[in-house]
Amino acid sequence: RERSFIMIKPDGVQRNLIGKIVGRFEERGFKIIAMKMVHATTEHLEKHYADLKNKPFFPGLIKYMASGPVLAFVIEGLDAVKTGRAMLGATNPLASLPGTIRGDYCLVTGRNICHGSDAVESAEKEIALWFPEGVIEYKDCEAEWVYED
Ligand code: GTP
Ligand code: MG
Repeated sequence: RERSFIMIKPDGVQRNLIGKIVGRFEERGFKIIAMKMVHATTEHLEKHYADLKNKPFFPGLIKYMASGPVLAFVIEGLDAVKTGRAMLGATNPLASLPGTIRGDYCLVTGRNICHGSDAVESAEKEIALWFPEGVIEYKDCEAEWVYED
């Protein structure tokens, strides 16, 4: 089973979409193994988005992400990274299909309400950055009905 780091950005929190977004991952069959609400510092967000530090939109991105609390969580399940990204939709919400989170709830790239890790290695880094205390290991009774074995 793979893990991915998912985050509801400040606009998603302010727009009261926490329940709907978390619900999509639960309903799909993913197991949530860590979750917390954080009002992140700019230093922390600069680490999270370090790969983008030379982009012209970087200062605006950090300001947006620091503008309010986010909901950070970790999903675990089959192909969690790629499937998580597919569930979010494209970076630009106008290019996201209806049925995806961005395709259903937002309109512009700079307010695209959610984040998902883009590769297994970035998921590992992001989980370590946001959950240095570790994730919660537990048995979920749904798994035997979600998977064949
Ligand atoms: P994340 O899941 O948030 O990492 O998005 P992503 O992987 O789909 O896109 P990427 O990592 O390239 O960019 C990170 C975030 O920066 C995006 O989700 C947007 O919020 C923001 N961003 C990316 N490109 C642009 C842009 O051209 N303009 C603006 N204003 N914001 C951008
Ligand atoms: Mg990204």
